[in-house]
Amino acid sequence: MTIQTHFPYISSKMFAENVAISDIAKQVGTPFYCYSNTAISQNFKGYQQAFSEQDTLICYAVKANSNQAVLSTLAKLGSGADVVSEGEIRRALAAGIPADKIVYSGVAKVESEIEYALNQGIFQFNVESEPELELISQIATRLNTTAAIAFRINPDVCANTHAKISTGKAENKFGVPISKARLAYKQAASLPNIKVQGVDVHIGSQLTQLAPFEEAYKRIAQLVTDLTEDGHEISVIDIGGGLGITYSDEVIPSKKEYAAVAKAQLGHLACKIIVEPGRSLLGNAGIIVSSVVLIKTGEERQFLMLDAGMNDLIRPSMYDAHHEILAVDTTNTAQKIYDVVGPVCETGDTFSKSRQVNESKSGDLIAIMSCGAYGAVMASTYNTRMLAPEVMVKDNEFAIVRARPTYEEVINADSVPSWV
Ligand code: LLP
Repeated sequence: MTIQTHFPYISSKMFAENVAISDIAKQVGTPFYCYSNTAISQNFKGYQQAFSEQDTLICYAVKANSNQAVLSTLAKLGSGADVVSEGEIRRALAAGIPADKIVYSGVAKVESEIEYALNQGIFQFNVESEPELELISQIATRLNTTAAIAFRINPDVCANTHAKISTGKAENKFGVPISKARLAYKQAASLPNIKVQGVDVHIGSQLTQLAPFEEAYKRIAQLVTDLTEDGHEISVIDIGGGLGITYSDEVIPSKKEYAAVAKAQLGHLACKIIVEPGRSLLGNAGIIVSSVVLIKTGEERQFLMLDAGMNDLIRPSMYDAHHEILAVDTTNTAQKIYDVVGPVCETGDTFSKSRQVNESKSGDLIAIMSCGAYGAVMASTYNTRMLAPEVMVKDNEFAIVRARPTYEEVINADSVPSWV
């Protein structure tokens, strides 16, 4: 069984929608990322339906997967974008997401980025600090334009997720502490060329429970009430992203339940809701397909050595993340226990220890599941390994949506000064 419904087994062979994974591998070579267009669309429509009773703009968190084919798919469905850099603004615009559906949430935005965003006329700046707000005000004044802003509020709520992806505790670097929020908004209202329009919150990623969202939104609702009393016109509440996905056996609340929490806590405020999902749109819409290089028998363990490495998927080594590892062809049902590792020269290049996988041999294809989000975007060329290509499948068609670079392209990107 696969937890990713768009990567089914048909006669013991894994498919991406209606294309055999082995057919793609033959043409593209391994490793590669493989995305299901239908899964992405269905996930997005799930959000649309869940939030259909609320005035909502879904702003896909571009950081999860910024491939132009992914962004174009979502743009056509009406998605906006949550971006964190000028690069992501450019990607969103290039894919056809209009500027008035872009919210900019960068943690330390620099002057040139702010200027670019203002010139494009984005919908909202999610401002991380008072000094950043002053900078935005100065630049907007110089450009003779107005910046619509929300402060990102740190509600001091524990998200019960991995420490490296928790953002809403007082100790985290993100946002303005809720205790200082009223003062910050007072300052904002006094600054030139700033239009105070919203409140923003994002408490972390891969949340598997609704309670932390509920607590954060409760605090935000009180804040919005206080701000209205203070004379601010708050018309937008950005509730962030963070709804988790099933990597192994996590039971995730449905999008409907998540939307119901937002409605229950924030509905009475009659604000436009922005939601910024990333992982829950893309995570289970993508996999990495890799080949077994060889099986190595160590003194204590059998190592299943793949041609994909930590440079293609950093999540296991960075967050101790679990990803299912499945044979693409399960005709041989015998199982073995392996340490599944990559080819990078680091012990951390381990996808899984003591994992039961179908007995494999050199050349077999292996799928690493749930890699559509925070896979390709976090890849590197460490060990001068080429970035793996990305493939998108829709029904019985597939296309390479980012090609594997050539060694020449990579080496020629460097230059040697004459004085060396
Ligand atoms: N909005 C903001 C302001 C964010 O910082 C993030 C993610 C999102 C939305 C989207 O969150 P999502 O719906 O994807 O949970 N690389 C890590 C995840 C980092 C998430 C960073 N912020 C991982 O691989 O688990």
